[in-house]
Amino acid sequence: MEQIPTPVIPGHVSEEQTCPHNIFTLSPESDITEEMSRIQENMPDIFYNPTPQLDRSFTKGAWVITSHAMAKEVLSDPGTFSSVGISGFAELVNLDYDLMIPIDIDPPLHPKVRMMLREYLSPKAVAELEGDIRLLARELVTKAKEKGSCDFMLDVAQIFPTQIFLLLMGLPMEEYHQFLEWEADLLQPDPNNIQKTIDAIMSIVDRVQRGFEEKRKNPGNDLLTMLVNAEIDGGPISEELRTGLGFNLFVGGLDTVINQLSWVFKYLAEHPESRQKLRGNPEAITLALEEIMRTHSVLTTRRFATKDLDFHGVRIKKGDSVELPFMAINRDPEAFECPMNIDLERKPNRHVGFSFGPHTCIGMHLARLEMRILVEEWLEQLPEFHIKEGEKLTFHAGIFGLDRLPLEWD
Ligand code: HEM
Repeated sequence: MEQIPTPVIPGHVSEEQTCPHNIFTLSPESDITEEMSRIQENMPDIFYNPTPQLDRSFTKGAWVITSHAMAKEVLSDPGTFSSVGISGFAELVNLDYDLMIPIDIDPPLHPKVRMMLREYLSPKAVAELEGDIRLLARELVTKAKEKGSCDFMLDVAQIFPTQIFLLLMGLPMEEYHQFLEWEADLLQPDPNNIQKTIDAIMSIVDRVQRGFEEKRKNPGNDLLTMLVNAEIDGGPISEELRTGLGFNLFVGGLDTVINQLSWVFKYLAEHPESRQKLRGNPEAITLALEEIMRTHSVLTTRRFATKDLDFHGVRIKKGDSVELPFMAINRDPEAFECPMNIDLERKPNRHVGFSFGPHTCIGMHLARLEMRILVEEWLEQLPEFHIKEGEKLTFHAGIFGLDRLPLEWD
């Protein structure tokens, strides 16, 4: 039986600042726009949610922010709102080094690591992958088309970013089934079998470390080789840091893209007129993707307070967790006109779906490229498609995404 944690309201939080609503446990059939409207209309910009999340090792409630401006304030100030330990992975497997680097680290190490990674994930660097990414996309869409119908999640969304990760890291493409398995155990954990998640983490760590060994013998033009040769402050980086970087690149680049694509293709399947406008128009696709990311932001992150402070009328204590559900934040009426409307031509669109401040997603150029290419290739081969009739779509929280997306076409 799944254990429901007991909500606890700590002494420094008042009843009025507490809202039981838990964004992570929305009913899988709920209407997201309705839920986000309810949050934006009824919840304060910051409130305390006393119910701990079920996933990983978080056992306390947390402050939740729904204001775009406040979120930016928190995300820009690592001195007050730290990232150390936010992923919870190292704690879960009892490792004495950080496993999600750079997500789980603060200055002074964080900017040095970012600097090291930046050139490999810059717009120029990822543009060089465009040809290979397009081939993978085209092949997947062709295979799906031949079937006459597909579960977009299983047949396309899960495979595509996994193959791109293997390409980027310089690992054999045939391994994608194994990586998909580990990824599922890691990111959609079974609360009744936490050992499965731990085993998946350790298998990924092991595969990444074996990858370093392989690249020492046979270097390539890939990220694993870059990590093998990486230096900080004029000296080689430690094996732990290298492992944490390999692990974060794996976790960061897979489920995010997979789930984001689920919302993009659900929207396209339901809007023939948008498909028509976007087909053959990469600029329009680029804008449209930003809007779907705004209204259907897949991630929620957190920070831990490094000291006691008064923050916009609430008392935050050292160690308190501050949660940032980007989907709610990106629907803040103070920041976006008609925030619940999906306007594929919205400009400017200053959403924080890739976060904000020093930890802003370093893979965002790659993510945008992957998603644009897949939409281009799909619309080219399959301009007409719809959700299979009679299907009731459900989604999972944690990293928001559809469980299945059965599509069909004539
Ligand atoms: C649509 C797809 C993606 C979304 C929505 C997304 C979202 C995010 C967000 C919100 C953060 C910051 C979390 C925080 O502030 O605590 C982040 C960080 C990160 N992402 Fe992504 N991401 C995506 C794709 C990717 C890809 C493809 C890669 C792989 C290259 C990647 C690698 C990373 C890394 C390494 C970080 C840590 C950056 C740091 O801590 O400085 N992401 N991502």
